[in-house]
Amino acid sequence: MVVMRKAVGLASAIVIMVMGMTDLSAQGLVDPKAEDKITSYISRMTLEEKIGQLNQYSSTFDVTGPPPQSGGNKDRYEQIKNGLVGSMLNVTGTEATRKMQELAVKNSRLGIPLIFGLDVVHGYRTMFPTPLGESASWDLEALQLSARVAATEAAAAGVHWTFAPMVDICRDARWGRIMEGAGEDPYLGSRIAEARVRGFQGTNLSAPDTIAACVKHYAGYGFSESGRDYNTVDLSEHTLRNVVLPPFRAAVDAGAATVMNSFNEIGGVPATASIHLQREILKSEWAFRGFVVSDWGSVGELITHGVAADASEAALLAIKAGSDMDMETSAYVGHLAALVKAGKVDEKLVDDAVRRILRVKFALGLFDDPYRYCNAGRENQLLLSQPHLDAARDVARKSIVLLKNENNLLPLQKKGTIAVIGPLAADKDTPLGNWRAQAIANSAVSILEGIQAAAGSDAKVVHAEGAKLAVGTRNFFTKPRYNTDDRSGFANAVAAARSADVVVVAIGEDAYQSGEGRSQTDIGLKGLQEELLREVFAANKNVVVVLMTGRPVVINWIAENIPAVLETWHPGSQAGHAIADVLFGAYNPSGKLPVSFPRHVGQLPLYYSHKNTGRPNQPDNPLSTSYTDVPNTPLYPFGYGLSYTKFEYSELQLSGKEFGKNGQLDVKVTVKNVGDRPGTEIIQLYTRDLVGSVTRPVKELKGFRKVNLAAGQAEEITFTIKAPDLAFYTGSGKWEAEAGKFKIFVGGNSRDTKEAEFTLLEKSH
Ligand code: NOJ
Repeated sequence: MVVMRKAVGLASAIVIMVMGMTDLSAQGLVDPKAEDKITSYISRMTLEEKIGQLNQYSSTFDVTGPPPQSGGNKDRYEQIKNGLVGSMLNVTGTEATRKMQELAVKNSRLGIPLIFGLDVVHGYRTMFPTPLGESASWDLEALQLSARVAATEAAAAGVHWTFAPMVDICRDARWGRIMEGAGEDPYLGSRIAEARVRGFQGTNLSAPDTIAACVKHYAGYGFSESGRDYNTVDLSEHTLRNVVLPPFRAAVDAGAATVMNSFNEIGGVPATASIHLQREILKSEWAFRGFVVSDWGSVGELITHGVAADASEAALLAIKAGSDMDMETSAYVGHLAALVKAGKVDEKLVDDAVRRILRVKFALGLFDDPYRYCNAGRENQLLLSQPHLDAARDVARKSIVLLKNENNLLPLQKKGTIAVIGPLAADKDTPLGNWRAQAIANSAVSILEGIQAAAGSDAKVVHAEGAKLAVGTRNFFTKPRYNTDDRSGFANAVAAARSADVVVVAIGEDAYQSGEGRSQTDIGLKGLQEELLREVFAANKNVVVVLMTGRPVVINWIAENIPAVLETWHPGSQAGHAIADVLFGAYNPSGKLPVSFPRHVGQLPLYYSHKNTGRPNQPDNPLSTSYTDVPNTPLYPFGYGLSYTKFEYSELQLSGKEFGKNGQLDVKVTVKNVGDRPGTEIIQLYTRDLVGSVTRPVKELKGFRKVNLAAGQAEEITFTIKAPDLAFYTGSGKWEAEAGKFKIFVGGNSRDTKEAEFTLLEKSH
């Protein structure tokens, strides 16, 4: 049976942009009445009170950066009372936020409410998969739902503003923060950025269950040299515009209320001091109406970067560049007034920053009711509520990627003996991942618990840890340490494997192994994990590896030897249930990698949309871009992921061979489920611009569709391509599509595709 589907795909990018603009006004960032009120406030504020609005402190009881060197809470509370603080981060819970808000509203001269920010990155108390993991769902509704639930819980706990989504494109898995983004691709990253902004902000920022989003880190942070966090970035305008900026632009167009700048420099200019990024591109070209917050201490770090001699000069550079709010440096509150009085900073720049911040506060409804989120009843009722847990389970299972399934070892049958082995098997904390907001430690459903619950009395489940992964203190501030010598649990693990019909081995990364400050030179499995796995495998060949990681890892031996492998990421609160759903086939896996998995760390940065170069890769020719020791190709390519069923793709049918700037091309492909169970496929469309004014990638994702197909069902999918979908930042510095020949590819991953050709007759923007 062939089912026709409505044409979607590339054109949806345009629809989304239009909706984004509509959202912007609905969210209150374009509200003339609010603007009048803001003008009135600004006219009544002293210079010091204005600068106070630009000042953000962290509550010292829960910091996510180095604690302040001086001052302490007492001074800060006094400053809030005096109207010298505009925002606090890391204050959570209805009780604490109410108390803190009272300091500002009841005591300061103008009673301007504080805005409370927090890193609500993949959940507030109910944890969803870490962001890179969720991105493997390629499911924009699921991603939006995840952000929606996070916003609902955070808002119920008094939080107004999340420092998310993180939209940094990253192609280097050495960088621990790759786990916080949507992976390597600007198109996928843009669609996910929009979905997350919509999820956090809804259509009305003043609703009691929405929070303001903050797109970060602007910009280039994911391109740090050697994958070392905070390191130097040297990025051409070409790569900046074509690769790094699109997700930021998409998020801004979707109405994101705020942007956070980044720690890194680009080509000698730290982002916090970059007029080009903040004033020229963001606020001028993109007409962004919200505000820019610095990253933690990044105004002060202009001194360590070596572009400012002291805090006063740092404040001068940052405000001139368009950084509106100073997170945790006190450089603005300490020095801006003197700079204005000395005529070094135009007060209009301060006024503009205040206007932007008050605009977001108005949009959130804080002037109508500064305590509107502070309702202990709602907080108790909503956090970890059953619908939220159900959503977390569903998003988690949609995020799981089946990397290998030899001889259909998976799905498992609920019979005989199942051994559940490995350091992460009974771990109730690691699944929560890093950036876990207010998750309760050790609160996740472990893999063992999930398997036990699913198997019930139908199968015998035995467990052995085998070896620990991380040892000592594990938290946000501690460098992870691994078990490299304690093999005392090996014998039990091997015995358990021997006694079983099938073995599930849970290994991967500790929760705090990826995330901020977690760069690694070796992205293989740490500690004794592979050694344990080899011994278990020697005892029983029916092994399923459940890989729980924040980032891509190098797993060549596993890929070669172990019959079945699932990448589950750090799946969140409902980890064990979601994994068991996939292991036993209650959910047929549908995730696709949002990032290439390398064969060797030395291949990094690695990404599918590389350039052709003058000497394209020829594996046997050393005088090409090939390595002499490892193939250039990834172990698993971008977009890759298997299912328990199989999908067949027909040849592509094009509605024509060419089209002009107002025309379009329909690309039809029929996808058939040729297996014997229902499944979900993510159909991906890529293009290649064969000749450009500048070099163009060998493949670029331009659209995707997720379809559910019953066993034996076929469906004809139509993608529609219009000229603007082919636009890029050209050699003449314009965003436009250039006339010429293109290739088009459709398939279930970026490597295995059907292809055809077409011509764009005219240039277009
Ligand atoms: C520093 C991180 O880079 C940023 O992502 C985060 O939002 C802030 N700290 C606040 O915690």
